[in-house]
Amino acid sequence: MDAMYRTQRHIYDLTRKYYLLGRDRLIRELAPPPDGTILEIGCGTGRNLIAAARAWPRARLYGLDISNEMLATARNNVARAGLADRIRLAQADAADFDLLALCGCQRVDRAFLSYTLSMIPPWQAAIANAVAIADRVHIVDFGQQERLPAVFRKGLLAWLRRFHVTPRANLHAEAKTIAAQWNLTAETASHYRGYAWSAVLG
Ligand SMILES: C[S@@+](CC[C@H](N)C(=O)[O-])C[C@H]1O[C@@H](n2cnc3c(N)ncnc32)[C@H](O)[C@@H]1O
Repeated sequence: MDAMYRTQRHIYDLTRKYYLLGRDRLIRELAPPPDGTILEIGCGTGRNLIAAARAWPRARLYGLDISNEMLATARNNVARAGLADRIRLAQADAADFDLLALCGCQRVDRAFLSYTLSMIPPWQAAIANAVAIADRVHIVDFGQQERLPAVFRKGLLAWLRRFHVTPRANLHAEAKTIAAQWNLTAETASHYRGYAWSAVLG
């Protein structure tokens, strides 16, 4: 991951702005309780954490990412935004992390995964880990482009493969299964003609 992001991290936010759709909707829907806590799993450059800190000014925020290169950019961005006192960052694997060691807390009110599951081979474990430590889990990622032209779908999938990104065809079904295992429900939705899929487990 570090090898891929070593150079990309410098142009990441500029280029991804146009195709990581649905991130701002997810941030608006987080609605943490007053003085609540929010964790982004796979926080990349910190773009979402900064937006969430501004949207929810009383929240405390945490971000973890497996890539130290991305975290270096995130740290710069958070400091530049003047939010270093509200956003704490740490290196960790979404599929296996210790929240207490990372954040000093046993649970968070909200956890979210934005365009991260499509890059994590054991992605179901990442969802299950998030559900285990958060009152509500929000997910957005690439969908199956089910209502877009086939040629667009084929081109997008080929292009995403170059970045080791695999949209998860059974994301909605797995979200419902994992939620049920925890006696929770999962609300799933498809956006932008299937370009992006979302799920909220809680
Ligand atoms: C496409 S970027 C999305 C970044 C950010 N969430 C956003 O929406 O802009 C995916 C991020 O997931 C991170 N990532 C990939 N595998 C991971 C894993 N196993 N654990 C934690 N982070 C991971 C990558 O390093 C990268 O920063």
